[in-house]
Amino acid sequence: MIALLQVPDAPSAIDSVLLLLYVAAGALFIFGLRGLGSPRTARRGNQIAAAGMVLAILVTLYYVFDRSRTDDLSVLWWVIVAGLAIGGAVGALLALRVQMTAMPELVAAFNGFGGGASALVAFAAIVATDTVVATNTPYATETEITVGLSIAIGVVTFSGSFVAYGKLQGVITGRPVALPGGPYFNLVLAILMTAASVWAIVANEPLGYWILAGIALVLGVTGVLPIGGADMPVVISLLNSLSGVAASMAGFVIGNQGLIIAGALVGAAGFILTVQMSEAMNRSLSNVLFAGFGTEGAGPIDAGDKPVNSATPEDVAISLNYAQTVLVVPGYGLAVAQAQHAVRELATALEERDVTVEYAIHPVAGRMPGHMNVLLAEADVPYDVLLDLDHSNPKFPNTDVVLVVGANDVVNPSARDDSGSPIFGMPILEVDRAATTVVIKRSLSPGFAGIDNPLFYLPSTMMLFSDAKGAIEHVTEALLEL
Ligand code: TAP
Repeated sequence: MIALLQVPDAPSAIDSVLLLLYVAAGALFIFGLRGLGSPRTARRGNQIAAAGMVLAILVTLYYVFDRSRTDDLSVLWWVIVAGLAIGGAVGALLALRVQMTAMPELVAAFNGFGGGASALVAFAAIVATDTVVATNTPYATETEITVGLSIAIGVVTFSGSFVAYGKLQGVITGRPVALPGGPYFNLVLAILMTAASVWAIVANEPLGYWILAGIALVLGVTGVLPIGGADMPVVISLLNSLSGVAASMAGFVIGNQGLIIAGALVGAAGFILTVQMSEAMNRSLSNVLFAGFGTEGAGPIDAGDKPVNSATPEDVAISLNYAQTVLVVPGYGLAVAQAQHAVRELATALEERDVTVEYAIHPVAGRMPGHMNVLLAEADVPYDVLLDLDHSNPKFPNTDVVLVVGANDVVNPSARDDSGSPIFGMPILEVDRAATTVVIKRSLSPGFAGIDNPLFYLPSTMMLFSDAKGAIEHVTEALLEL
């Protein structure tokens, strides 16, 4: 079947039309990606990209059936229909069932399957030599190089993604696992992989590809194990990018333009997102990959003799009752507590009292890009009251009450004031500049970065120690009684 996707040496008019349709599918992917740039257009962007994918699948099916008139089509039908049915059903089921907080895991699994599929396509081209078109046997060196790259990157993505999945699910420890020799361990594996590919290509030896795949399987595991669990979203974004590169390489192997375009787009978009996530944490990508950062679960912080202004839901309701402007700052704890609907109800109660309520969204609040936007959209919070970092910070000094719901690192003033802090330089939401800041969390425990937060000890800060959902519901009840 692989050979059947190849474009013949002298393309006919219909081949040219099909190629143009692939380009049209590629254009739809690009418009779709553009739509994903804003929450307002994201849904439409998804639909446009899905339409592009349907078009690409139809063109591919046409190629398969058009070029296989001499083959037994019933077998081909069965294989394709079974693949579509099983893959479609599993995908739909997972997408419907997944909890919003488990979205990074789902993306990790999809990336893993994508990388594995690309490697299998490349493997099939090498192993199933009898189905490859005559012009491709023996392989051109560039084809063999793309086969090697597709196998190497695809298999690393496969095993790496499932280790990331395991870390997020808690099946594998979230703590960074030190390797003997540190990063040099993986460097040695990368050198061995290169040697295996060179051997496979120069000696025309398929065994080299099997060895390459075996080492890549190990490298995926040992590449992700030393990274802390909370950095997994960045890793998953990088693996997403790699799965795109592997798909693109597989596209070159089988001469499928649709796969080349789609893979290149995923590769580029995933890499840009990876870099943006690292920048929003003021960390380099190499720091994320090699520094073993992240001490989630570091245990409660001992406040010592520092003053903590502990408040009740009634205290918070009284403050809100006198406010004219309220800025809500959601964080990871909002996702854990699933407090988005409760927050929306509190906002509605405040708006009925002519209080202006807006939301300040930090780019890395939560554990995945757009985490807070997705949760708030689920609770029907309008997009135009969601403010980004640059629009929020000038507002804090003029805001009566800032309500920090389950956020910690993204509001930690040490990132601005303490050059010794591990998060120094990370842009923050400057909630400490507001007249009154209410922080809702269960304890003084640290967040992802594992460090104390001086915000909790400021005279202008009220700490409401509780699960975010229950706390917000109590505040709303108390407000309605005033
Ligand atoms: P964090 O700093 O991780 O703090 C979350 C806080 O939520 C914790 O201190 C925890 O305190 C509280 N919490 C947990 N469950 C709660 C519940 N049920 N009710 C109320 N509070 C609860 O979160 P953040 O401020 O959103 O910052 C995100 C961090 O993740 C940043 O350091 C960022 O660099 C990192 N990160 C983000 C991403 C992306 S893409 N978003 C990717 C990788 C890393 P208690 O235990 O005391 O309740």
